[in-house]
Amino acid sequence: MIQIMSTFPLFRLPLVALAVVISHFNLNHFDFFHEDLLPGENLDEKQNSSISIERKGNFPGARSLKIGDALVPMSNSLDKYGEIELRFYFEDVFDGLKTISRYICSFLENPVYGLMLSSDSHPDQIRRTIDWALSFQKSIKMCYIEDYKISDDHFRNVLDVCNSVNKFYFYGKLSPEFGHQFAFENDSIFLRHAFWVNLDNLLKINCRICTIWGSNLTNLEVNQYLKHWKTGKFPKLKIADFEMEDINLEVLLADLNAVKFPEGKERTFRNASNRDVTIDYGFDIRMDNGTLATIVHKGGNIISKWFYMVVW
Ligand SMILES: *[C@@H]1O[C@H](CO)[C@@H](O)[C@H](O)[C@H]1NC(C)=O
Ligand SMILES: *[C@@H]1O[C@H](CO)[C@@H](O)[C@H](O)[C@H]1NC(C)=O
Ligand SMILES: *[C@@H]1O[C@H](CO)[C@@H](O)[C@H](O)[C@H]1NC(C)=O
Ligand SMILES: *[C@@H]1O[C@H](CO)[C@@H](O)[C@H](O)[C@H]1NC(C)=O
Ligand SMILES: *[C@@H]1O[C@H](CO)[C@@H](O)[C@H](O)[C@H]1NC(C)=O
Repeated sequence: MIQIMSTFPLFRLPLVALAVVISHFNLNHFDFFHEDLLPGENLDEKQNSSISIERKGNFPGARSLKIGDALVPMSNSLDKYGEIELRFYFEDVFDGLKTISRYICSFLENPVYGLMLSSDSHPDQIRRTIDWALSFQKSIKMCYIEDYKISDDHFRNVLDVCNSVNKFYFYGKLSPEFGHQFAFENDSIFLRHAFWVNLDNLLKINCRICTIWGSNLTNLEVNQYLKHWKTGKFPKLKIADFEMEDINLEVLLADLNAVKFPEGKERTFRNASNRDVTIDYGFDIRMDNGTLATIVHKGGNIISKWFYMVVW
């Protein structure tokens, strides 16, 4: 896990894992680690540590640690929860992040699992970080972006590489003119404030869980989307979760041969938070080859913007 948000630590590791990392740093001159930080051999499995990168400035009590060829100033402290905090100081936080992350990931023999990103220090930081991770590993399991200042162009650049991320999350604000065509065929996508998503976008998303909140997708557009689904165009789809214009079932379900959920029956699925959810109402539709899906909706005159479809 790597984070680029100035307020959060870069890594949070169980102390035991931190001990592995530290024992690989060049410790000849740094036995203070063992005394100050990692007392005894019996590390508590549940105790945590955090590592953060900060901009070089005036920092009292900093020592230096040899990392690769560089001597990096660092400081450490113990917080009130017994969590060890290590801080490394670099001229450029982004360079520091890369150095420390590569170093730690190589010792732990693990790829970068996830990225939590915002672009508060460099406008192009999100795309640069994804490119950096993809320069030494094939894909990234999870990328969570929360950024209310990203420019439209920088976000377009990010969308262009989102397909290399298994689970892609974006919380952020874009200008009212925003629009972009991109393809996503990986595992899950979650877009919030997605007023800009249209049918053309939906047709290029073929994934297991597709969550589009804050969109202005129309009943007609979602109806078209479902017609494509029926022909087998989105074979991976398990859950479609859209916020759209007020649902009008007549338009939404037109020409889909939708039938009411069988009376007295129940079906259970696992939702995006891995919780088993049982439903007993909705409208069933079928792919041309027989695959069944339910659009979860109570019917009647309920006014709702939430479109939720489960493929069984
Ligand atoms: C360490 O983190 C785990 C998981 O987040 C948490 O359950 C535990 O309480 C933390 N331990 C301490 C000592 O803060
Ligand atoms: C996600 O993308 C990676 C990298 O391109 C690929 O290895 C992986 O198979 C993809 N996963 C899915 C579910 O398509
Ligand atoms: C989306 O719909 C909301 C209300 O449903 C409206 O205020 C907004 O202007 C619409 N945005 C676009 C881009 O159409
Ligand atoms: C129907 O097509 C979907 C998507 O391609 C596939 O996952 C499913 O196994 C197929 N079902 C049958 C009964 O062939
Ligand atoms: C999954 O279901 C649980 C229990 O109903 C609910 O609290 C949670 O919000 C659901 N998650 C998603 C992503 O829908």
